[in-house]
Amino acid sequence: MHENEGRRVDRYDLVTPMLPCKQEILDGVERLLTTGQYILGREVHALEAEMATACGAADAVGVASGSAALYMALQIAGVGPGVEVVTTPYTFVATIEAIIRLGGTPVFVDIDPRTLNLDPDLAADAVTARTRVLLPVHIFGMPCEMEPLERTAARHGLDIVEDMCQAFGSLYRGRPCGSLGRTACLSFYPTKNLPGIGDGGMILCRDAADAALLRRLRGHETVRVGGRLHSGWNSRLDEIQALAIRVRLARFADEQADRDRAAAVYNELVPEAHRLATPRPGSGLRVTHHQYWIRVPERARLEARLREAGVDFGVYYDPPLHRHELAEYCRVHGDLAHAEAAGREVLALPIHQALPERDARRIGELVREHLAGTA
Ligand SMILES: Cc1ncc(COP(=O)(O)O)c(C=O)c1O
Repeated sequence: MHENEGRRVDRYDLVTPMLPCKQEILDGVERLLTTGQYILGREVHALEAEMATACGAADAVGVASGSAALYMALQIAGVGPGVEVVTTPYTFVATIEAIIRLGGTPVFVDIDPRTLNLDPDLAADAVTARTRVLLPVHIFGMPCEMEPLERTAARHGLDIVEDMCQAFGSLYRGRPCGSLGRTACLSFYPTKNLPGIGDGGMILCRDAADAALLRRLRGHETVRVGGRLHSGWNSRLDEIQALAIRVRLARFADEQADRDRAAAVYNELVPEAHRLATPRPGSGLRVTHHQYWIRVPERARLEARLREAGVDFGVYYDPPLHRHELAEYCRVHGDLAHAEAAGREVLALPIHQALPERDARRIGELVREHLAGTA
C-alpha cells in the first residue's frame, strides 16, 4: 500500500499558499488602518497599473467582483433591451446574468469539444443585425480561439468582451488574455489562480477612454454612452483586497509553476483523448489550468471510485446554461450537443498550488486505470 493511499485530497487549498504571504499582508493592513484611505487608494491604483502591464492592456479598473466587471463592460459596449450577445452555454451563470440584468439576450452556440470553448465558426453564424458583442469565456484557463472571432467582430462592427474570470496568466498565440478584446473581465474570487481574500474584480481595457468611463460608472456617476444614459453604481475595489492581491501577484509566477507541475503529472498519466491536448511548442498557447478537466463516459463510476479513494472532484455546468431557468431570456442557435456532452462527461480533478506531486500521481494513476478498464 502506498504511504498516501486513502489520504483525503481536497480540490482546493486556499490556506497553504496564503501562509508565506500572511505577514506581508498583515503588515500592509496595519499600515492601511492608519491611512484612512480604505477604498480606491494607493493599493488599488498600484494594482490597476500592475495588472494592465501583466495583461498587455492600456488600463485596468478595479471593481467589486467579476460579475460587476461583466455588467459594466457590457454596459459600455451598448448591451441593453433588444441587443444580442453571442456566448457559450458552458460557463458559470454569472456570464449570462450580466447580459440579462442589462435587458440583453444571450445567444448560445455550441462549444468546441477539444477546448470546451465557444466554437468561433458557430458564433459567426449566429450573428444577426441585433448582435453587438461576442463574449468568449476562456473556460478553465484555456484561451478561446480568438482570431476567427476577431475577424467576425471586424466584419460586423462588433465588440469582443472577454470573460477571463478563470484565465489570468493564460496566453493565446503569445498574447495575454486580457488584451484580446475591447475589454476583459477578471474575478479575484478566492478560488481563482490570482485570488483575493474576499470578493473583487477588474476590467482590463484596450482603450484608456473606456477605463475613464468605467471609473465614473463604478463611483455613482451618470454617463451617456452612444446616446443612452447610464446609471452609475457602487462597484469599487477595497484597498485591503487590492493589497492582498498585489502580494499574490508578486508570487504568481511561482504559484503558477506549482500548478503547472501538478498538471504535467496529470498530462503524463491521463490519455490525451480524455483531457485538454498539451500545447504544441511554438504555439504561444499557455493554459493556466484554473481547473484540470478530464472527460469520461459514464462519469458516475469514476466519481464513485474517486470518492472511495478520498479524492475530491468538481462537476461543472451540468446541465449547461441553455437548460438553466434563465434560458427563458436566452436564444439558442443550433444544436448544443457538445456542450451537453461536456456537461455529462467532464470532471475536474484537484489542482492547486499546494497539491503534492504524490497526490497528483495517485489520482492520475487511478484515472488511468479506470479508463483502461472502461476502454
Ligand atoms: C466564467 C466566470 N464568469 C464570471 C464569474 C463571476 O466572478 P465573481 O464570482 O467574482 O463575481 C466567474 C467566477 O466566479 C466565472 O468563473
